[in-house]
Amino acid sequence: MAGSIYEVAPGGRLAGSLRMPGDKSISHRSVMLGAIAEGETRITGFLEGEDCLATMNALRAMGVPIEGPDAGRVHVRGVGLHGLRAPGAPLDMGNSGTAMRLMAGLLAGQPFDSVLVGDASLSRRPMRRITEPLGRMGARIETSPDGTPPLRIHGGARLRGIRYEMPVASAQVKSAVLLAGLYAQGRTCVIEPAPARDHTERMLEGLGYELRRSEATVCLDGGGRLRAAHIDVPADISSAAFFLVGASIAAGSDLHLRHVGVNPTRTGVLEILRRMGASIEVGAPREAGGEPVADLHVRAAELRGIDIPEALVPLAIDEFPALFVAAACAQGTTRLRGAAELRVKESDRIQVMAEGLQALGVAAEPLPDGIVIEGGRLSGGTVYSHGDHRVAMAFAMAALRAGGPVRILDCDNVNTSFPGFVGLAREAGLAIREIPPGHG
Ligand code: S3P
Repeated sequence: MAGSIYEVAPGGRLAGSLRMPGDKSISHRSVMLGAIAEGETRITGFLEGEDCLATMNALRAMGVPIEGPDAGRVHVRGVGLHGLRAPGAPLDMGNSGTAMRLMAGLLAGQPFDSVLVGDASLSRRPMRRITEPLGRMGARIETSPDGTPPLRIHGGARLRGIRYEMPVASAQVKSAVLLAGLYAQGRTCVIEPAPARDHTERMLEGLGYELRRSEATVCLDGGGRLRAAHIDVPADISSAAFFLVGASIAAGSDLHLRHVGVNPTRTGVLEILRRMGASIEVGAPREAGGEPVADLHVRAAELRGIDIPEALVPLAIDEFPALFVAAACAQGTTRLRGAAELRVKESDRIQVMAEGLQALGVAAEPLPDGIVIEGGRLSGGTVYSHGDHRVAMAFAMAALRAGGPVRILDCDNVNTSFPGFVGLAREAGLAIREIPPGHG
């Protein structure tokens, strides 16, 4: 089996005060928008995970001078909207759907050709959701016959603004269309069926670009300019989610998580855990770089199963692996529907999580668009993460309530979003150790 293995001894509790690494979504956008802004953008709190480094390296390959990252500090010398240069080779987006889809929007309006490639997981993920609206704008992008990467983007297309009603609530699709809209003639509008994260909109406004936003619609006119600014990236609530769940399920836990991004398009995990009976306090609410931030205080609680409201799905889309572990430790049944998107993430998170929970003795029934989980006792066992960072971290937390050791296979990709996870989890009280590839 390729990749490192996590071995987590059962039991324990989480305590202390931690700062999670930087927000992945905001970090991607900070270097992309900094690159096409005019002037020098200084970023603090940047996530030094492989996904965001892929975005950074792609921009470097297009001639953007970027220094760092150094302890979360990055310095981007923006080249302006029209200053990117043709890359000499295909741009490798690694494991990152965000990097590929946003980059495709940015590249659709460039005068040069480019090719975007990714790893085995990314090479299976659907790309027509962006090539279709970008094509309507006049972009010429080829995918494989089944709509997956690599993406071949033909330069020199003259883009025109469109009004696009998104079929799914996707921040990646919205952002790709808006980024292409910067290069389009006329007005580009995106209408979302439900709120998806709005970091792109907030950051564009923070860099001086005029947007028109109403409840479900965002519009911008092409041909403007972005002005460099300082961008402070808050800690990632998606990384915090593992610790929120771990502390909730492990008796005696009492944990503080500092400076966490609590943008209302991302806080579904707090709402769902609270409905399950979790004890989470949101303290010292403030703004940092145009994003709401707060300190979170979580204590152990008796969780109960719930029917998760569909309206909360896009607001917690990356947190379901962790939430499924919470459901497995809750009293009663948890039901999720309306979440078919989970099947096209870094892995098929419905299937992969159901199989992992079953391996730990939990009754979990996958549905086409969701899952039904019966809370109960967890045994020890071996779980396959399928190279999915969030699956690996979710099952690491499950060990807090397991009857024996939990072994999780193929954990290398935790570095895509959460470098230093093992160290921070140990600091908080999780009895986790990492066995390097080839030693397990
Ligand atoms: C992201 C949007 C979400 C999320 C992903 C990051 C972003 O994807 O799952 O991890 O940064 O825009 P979708 O927009 O496809 O739902």
